[in-house]
Amino acid sequence: MPEQVAPNGKLRHLISLKGLDRPMVESVLAKARTYIAAPDAQAPSDTSLTNYTVANLFYEASTRTRASFELAARRLDAKVLNLDVNTSSRTKGESILDTIYTLQAMHIDVFVVRDAGTGVPAMIAEAVAPHVCVLNAGESDTSHPTQGLLDLLTIQQHKQDIKNLKVAIIGDVRRSRVARSAAEALQLFDVGELRLIGPDEFLPDAEDFPGAHRFTDATAGIQGADVVMALRIQKERFDKAGEIPDNNAYFRRYGLTQALLRHADKDAIVMHPGPMNRGTEIASDVADGHQSVIRDQVANGVAIRMAVLSIVTDYVRSMRSSS
Ligand code: CP
Repeated sequence: MPEQVAPNGKLRHLISLKGLDRPMVESVLAKARTYIAAPDAQAPSDTSLTNYTVANLFYEASTRTRASFELAARRLDAKVLNLDVNTSSRTKGESILDTIYTLQAMHIDVFVVRDAGTGVPAMIAEAVAPHVCVLNAGESDTSHPTQGLLDLLTIQQHKQDIKNLKVAIIGDVRRSRVARSAAEALQLFDVGELRLIGPDEFLPDAEDFPGAHRFTDATAGIQGADVVMALRIQKERFDKAGEIPDNNAYFRRYGLTQALLRHADKDAIVMHPGPMNRGTEIASDVADGHQSVIRDQVANGVAIRMAVLSIVTDYVRSMRSSS
């Protein structure tokens, strides 16, 4: 793992929330709060990325993360390159590092990378020039740090003290980078209790989520929870299609319905990172119901990515002025 924080104390890369200390995470959250506006207000913007160039390289499908990184960069006045990976020279056999070196020669300052391979963002961060930053936009089932940050910000907007919260994550936790980064973020803030709910084959190894409680009974797991996060079945990460459960059978046992949600605290919030499969892991009336903060998560995603871009380009600025 490359050093994410430079010797001058500035955040340079964001590969994982592991290894970041609480003051660093709090500084990102505080900056993100300055980029939040009411839904009917003008989108926040500033010029902190004027004269910086951001390249988005998404080697896995994405709607929210890709759109919000692009909007975040543009609202900070960056120049933005969205590489169309399907028509890039990677299809002719060029390695990802050769792609990076090629774009770096075109004066890219920040690479935003999503890839299905564990370790790819870290490998790129080790390889780039000293003035260049790398942001992980979703890595295999391992890490999705900006999602963890936006989830933490969303919970803080709705709940007073993370220390007193019972947070229940229900679904395909084993294959979820969202759950891993959410757990890392919540544990940094001393979450009261973290519960993981799903069939045995969807629950991770205990050492993957130290301190979390595992439940195969959804009603028991959700009892009294203050935050309920539903997860999609990560079908693209199954070795064999035959292992994917039947949608209807799964929904009956683990779908987040109003009937199941009634066992949580009456003021519980409902989260989902998206994309949602309504009728498989969550019922439509829960996704769109008054307890849902799913749209807040989306809005906060732009704010968090603006904050991260602004903070890491501060590092680039420090390197430029010292050279
Ligand atoms: N939450 C999330 O990562 O969504 P996308 O896959 O649409 O980016």
